[in-house]
Amino acid sequence: MAEQRAAIVTGASSGIGLAIADVLGQEGYALTIAARRPEKLEAAAAGLREKGYDVEHVAGPLGAEEGVKAVVAAHRERYGRLDVLVNNAGVGIGASVAEIDTKKLDLQLDLNLRSIILFYREAVDLLRTAGKEHGAALVVNTASIAGKRGQPWLSVYSATKGAVVNFTEAMHKELSAEGIKSTALCPGFVDTPMTEFVKESVPATDMITPGDIGEAVRLLLKVSPACIIPEIQFIRPGD
Ligand SMILES: NC(=O)c1ccc[n+]([C@@H]2O[C@H](COP(=O)([O-])OP(=O)(O)OC[C@H]3O[C@@H](n4cnc5c(N)ncnc54)[C@H](OP(=O)(O)O)[C@@H]3O)[C@@H](O)[C@H]2O)c1
Repeated sequence: MAEQRAAIVTGASSGIGLAIADVLGQEGYALTIAARRPEKLEAAAAGLREKGYDVEHVAGPLGAEEGVKAVVAAHRERYGRLDVLVNNAGVGIGASVAEIDTKKLDLQLDLNLRSIILFYREAVDLLRTAGKEHGAALVVNTASIAGKRGQPWLSVYSATKGAVVNFTEAMHKELSAEGIKSTALCPGFVDTPMTEFVKESVPATDMITPGDIGEAVRLLLKVSPACIIPEIQFIRPGD
């Protein structure tokens, strides 16, 4: 790369987001990482800095508009450029339809969907500048295989992730001519804290690894500007 590029990764204090942040650091990107709990995020930031990466971290709830604005503002202040935005923070709360709790419904809508829309809005000027410069600004949105095939008990989560797939497609059509690519990641079970609830029936060793997702993002960074990968599904054997 001609000069240092910079990336934001949300939900980067563990699991998939941390693995993606690691790959971006390896590829020479300066990082802003964001997540909800400060201590966990600080520990992740310290681990990434130990690897020699340039890391800013911003803790706070990203379902809130102010949280989104704070991340983009801190990133803008520190680096002044944004080449890659990874909208990865998300939460899944299971419930059968009659038991859906309004607060939990809103939390999933706000974090999994609304915050992604707000991140695009807040960061699109920086992405446009990067797109103009090198034609390959990139937004990666972590959806889910549940966003391709709705799941019982995870109906709200499925709906938010389906909307992320669709919003990503819309952003591709709206922004790709300006050198801003958008990709939706759609994994099945990945071995992270989020899948603890299922590990009695699906062992962690039978799951996709966070590193698998990180390697897919490395591919997205390396393909030429004219090559768009709108969506990647990650499926386990037999699924
Ligand atoms: N694991 C899977 O099987 C799987 C499959 C498909 C898609 N996904 C998606 O992958 C993404 C990452 O999940 P993961 O599996 O890596 O889980 P994870 O290890 O639990 O990571 C979730 C990340 O999101 C952050 N986060 C949660 N709520 C937040 C909030 N309100 N505000 C800001 N940050 C918040 C967490 O920070 P705190 O810990 O501080 O809350 C953490 O950094 C999610 O969007 C998830 O839906 C996961």
